[in-house]
Amino acid sequence: MEQKLKVGILGATGMVGQRFISLLEDHPWFEVVTVAASPRSAGKTYAEAVGNRWKMDTPMPEAVKKLVVLNVNDVEHVASTVDFVFSAVDMTKDEIKAIEEAYAKTETPVVSNNSAHRWTPDVPMVIPEVNPEHFEVIADQKKRLGTTRGFIAVKPNCSIQSYAPCLAAWKEFGPKELIVTTYQAISGAGKTFKDWPEMVENIIPYIGGEEEKSEQEPLRVLGKVENGEIVKAELPKITCQCVRVPVLNGHTAAVFINFEKKPTKEQLIEKLTSFKGFPQEADLPSAPKQFIQYLEEDNRPQVKMDVDYEKGMGVSIGRLREDTIYDYKFIGLSHNTVRGAAGGAVLCAESLTAKGYIQAK
Ligand SMILES: NC(=O)c1ccc[n+]([C@@H]2O[C@H](COP(=O)([O-])OP(=O)(O)OC[C@H]3O[C@@H](n4cnc5c(N)ncnc54)[C@H](OP(=O)(O)O)[C@@H]3O)[C@@H](O)[C@H]2O)c1
Repeated sequence: MEQKLKVGILGATGMVGQRFISLLEDHPWFEVVTVAASPRSAGKTYAEAVGNRWKMDTPMPEAVKKLVVLNVNDVEHVASTVDFVFSAVDMTKDEIKAIEEAYAKTETPVVSNNSAHRWTPDVPMVIPEVNPEHFEVIADQKKRLGTTRGFIAVKPNCSIQSYAPCLAAWKEFGPKELIVTTYQAISGAGKTFKDWPEMVENIIPYIGGEEEKSEQEPLRVLGKVENGEIVKAELPKITCQCVRVPVLNGHTAAVFINFEKKPTKEQLIEKLTSFKGFPQEADLPSAPKQFIQYLEEDNRPQVKMDVDYEKGMGVSIGRLREDTIYDYKFIGLSHNTVRGAAGGAVLCAESLTAKGYIQAK
């Protein structure tokens, strides 16, 4: 790319916003030129606004420290400085819906990490290896919004990334029923142990709204485009329990699965390890070379050993074995704030750029 695209981050001071800042440092296609957050942060430099809230392992990039934080609600102003935005603001669902549409209507594409638009019929919700063809509905969304280049695209919830890709890899065997339990990291709530000490040596068996997302969102990702809308798949039926565990980064899922046509274990592993999609074919900058790895050891995947596989963009699967009631059971792991949040959104934006949906203004 001759000239980098100018990027703004809405909610830049938060946990996911910080992850965007870290991932985009030295990005070959995108340059962060604008950071925006609440009126509390607006007017301060990024370094001042974040203060002691910096939660990444790597230091704050020099290039953003002195950027003056803009107010997310000054839509026209923020939009005038960028080619597109990533959205990671924490507001009410209705407020997020409205503000993301307002940005799209300024002809600024919005790639969102938020859940507000995940069920808007003409908004694509994409895991780029699995359903990049869903970007086709953007043409119909633009008609509804009355835009020529502005639109909204979203990525799915962090909790589904450790098992939903397997369903796509195993499509020909007809995944029919799933029982899932997720073991979710505290960074998924925007927290570290310092600001959530109750989580040390604790388990909390409730994460608001997460079970519905974990049961329903895979069906939309596996759905198809019909008359300018995404129609969700009917199968597999999924039932899920989501549990918060004392882990900083990394969502684990324990899954039982039934198929229409029961394959062998060797077939299942071969389909996982050979699974690839548009990001690998187009050699996108953030694409994992190998999207899904299969680990043979009985005690893998482990959060500490495997969460950063493929720089947090890959998915690790292990312990695939026959079950006494279901056909098979297995364990999945993915990085919730990389593949599950900012990294997944960056890969969506790279896919949208490679496909010509995002261009310089
Ligand atoms: N953490 C995860 O792994 C994860 C994964 C998937 C999705 N999400 C979703 O991503 C969003 C951000 O999550 P987070 O964990 O990064 O939250 P967070 O750490 O609380 O950050 C929230 C961001 O939104 C800004 N903000 C808050 N209230 C605002 C307002 N009224 N107007 C404008 N900006 C406002 C904050 O700015 P100030 O600093 O100025 O307050 C901050 O930049 C949430 O919707 C969350 O559900 C999070």
